[in-house]
Amino acid sequence: IGEVEDIQELRRARPTAVPERYVRDTNERPALSTILPSSLSVPVIDLSKLVCGTKRQSQEEMAKLTAACEEWGFFQVINHGIEKELLETMERVAKEFFMLPLEEKEKYPMAPGTIQGYGHAFVFSEDQKLDWCNMLALGVEPAFIRKPHLWPTNPANLSYTLEKYSKSIRRLCQILLMFISRSLGLSPNYFDEMFGVAVQAVRMNYYPPCSRPDLVLGLSPHSDGSALTVLQQDTASVGLQILKDNAWVPVHPIAEALVINIGDTIEVLTNGRYRSVEHRAVTNKETDRLSVVTFYAPSYDVELGPVPELVNDQQPCRYRRFNHGEYSRHYVTNKLQGKKTLEFAK
Ligand code: SIN
Ligand code: FE2
Repeated sequence: IGEVEDIQELRRARPTAVPERYVRDTNERPALSTILPSSLSVPVIDLSKLVCGTKRQSQEEMAKLTAACEEWGFFQVINHGIEKELLETMERVAKEFFMLPLEEKEKYPMAPGTIQGYGHAFVFSEDQKLDWCNMLALGVEPAFIRKPHLWPTNPANLSYTLEKYSKSIRRLCQILLMFISRSLGLSPNYFDEMFGVAVQAVRMNYYPPCSRPDLVLGLSPHSDGSALTVLQQDTASVGLQILKDNAWVPVHPIAEALVINIGDTIEVLTNGRYRSVEHRAVTNKETDRLSVVTFYAPSYDVELGPVPELVNDQQPCRYRRFNHGEYSRHYVTNKLQGKKTLEFAK
């Protein structure tokens, strides 16, 4: 894929330069897209009401959760039980990593065609446009997907923090999946039992400021290949946008909230009732942005397909059956391009 100039280094040397490989074709430029009025925003779910609210509170929150999964594919979760300090530490060490000199970060290189380590993921050709983003991606669970030599030893507490953080996020995913199962009329453990030892991976995204945010994208439009994705974003700027009714809606950061989205796997399992929604990241002129994203997915050996309980005469089967490991391979070996990867399941 040729030498890719590092955008953080580039900005240091030439703050206003935007190399050709980052300049999007006209139809992809963010400035030309419609943005919905800010009155429309991603639903906010209070997890404490689901877990320990009164009967009435939990029923109301359950209705909100169902609507969020059906109509948005995204929601922000508050009172999720993960300590503020852990979230702050994760954000801080991730940022410290991206602030290291390039030589230091390059000790953990992402090999072409893989998505672990530091570098540009999902790049497969010379003429493909690049995202205005630096990434550190790591497989976390189960242990056999880990590549320990790619876990940074600098900053010293990154690996330890990530380990601790991932345990908390895993627990959160299990709780959310329990409520999602119930919201579909399935037994609470339905997905948990089906998933086996779930696969968990993390990707830290660092978006430097860009002098021409109207020309570039921080991250190309895509849907996630996961079952659930948990995104922690810093509150300094708005970058994440999701596609709703053909318009891009910004996801405004709420302090301490986590952004949850439905991935392709849940879309398939629910026969399309819950939607894996296309999203992208845009950049800012003045502010950099950091997100820490966890992908939670079934074990690779799981066979996916719409669950029988959600297929009937009114909702005929919309996806075929396939192996999840095969889908994961398909996902990571194709460029991010809207919901194109999900065509694999049709
Ligand atoms: C992602 O979709 O993986 C990350 C988007 C973001 O940084 O907000
Ligand atoms: Fe994503």
